[in-house]
Amino acid sequence: MNTEYTGPRIGDAMGLLLRDANASEATRAKGKHVREFYDGYLSIVDTKDLFRRPLDWPDETWWGYERIQGDVLDLSVGAGRFAVPLQDDGLAVAGLDISPGAVEVAKLRGVTDVTCGDLNEVASIYAPRRFDTVLLLGMGLLLLRSPDKAGATLRQLHQVTARDAKLIGEGAVPDVDSPRGKQLAANNLRAGLWPGQQRARVRYQDVATPWSDLLYASASDLARLTLHHGWRLAAVKESQGNTYVAEFHRMDTGF
Ligand SMILES: C[S@@+](CC[C@H](N)C(=O)[O-])C[C@H]1O[C@@H](n2cnc3c(N)ncnc32)[C@H](O)[C@@H]1O
Repeated sequence: MNTEYTGPRIGDAMGLLLRDANASEATRAKGKHVREFYDGYLSIVDTKDLFRRPLDWPDETWWGYERIQGDVLDLSVGAGRFAVPLQDDGLAVAGLDISPGAVEVAKLRGVTDVTCGDLNEVASIYAPRRFDTVLLLGMGLLLLRSPDKAGATLRQLHQVTARDAKLIGEGAVPDVDSPRGKQLAANNLRAGLWPGQQRARVRYQDVATPWSDLLYASASDLARLTLHHGWRLAAVKESQGNTYVAEFHRMDTGF
């Protein structure tokens, strides 16, 4: 027996699970992966959610989808869950994802313009291209990471968007009611952070992605932040759980 605990290998766990699920209908239907949080909390996720077809989308996803217009930049394209139907609806879509495996799967599923890269470097990847809608669906607003880091990314989006562009994303309200949520919020406040900041990684088989910071924030808290960096909250659709889809409009003055 190997007596030494090695922990997971650090790598493209997201890509590995998307590749497996794309290759096998059974894995797509029944596969699970794990979201591991920095405090040790584990959440088991159904992989099929990353392949959900439009017929199975909840109302708030449709609400966001129907607001998409013009040339689209999907900042976390994943398996192309939104990019593929958008292309089918006749829109031009550029997809970005930090996971090489996700990029491969998005291409296999028919997304024609896909790039591997970090959404926090979006300006150096896409400028001087200009998009009409930027997507952060599928909990993508969490990828803004922290109030400080979000500002830099939101400002970069100005370099790759048209004057009347929209940002449509899904976010989640922090849990401040459960014992764990209260503890996390108290720890964050002590450290001078927002109550909903967390650090998490995806685990699949023996592989884990690097840790990344996630920003859980209500739409109104997020709106106060985005307003300082050129994006005004225009409308919100709450879900039945703790998530919401929000539409932000690009501002050209006043920030
Ligand atoms: C929860 S999945 C959602 C994918 C897709 N938006 C959907 O709803 O099906 C999150 C995706 O974001 C990607 N991602 C995470 N951090 C990223 C970053 N900094 N830049 C670009 N993509 C990132 C992951 O690789 C993953 O494919």
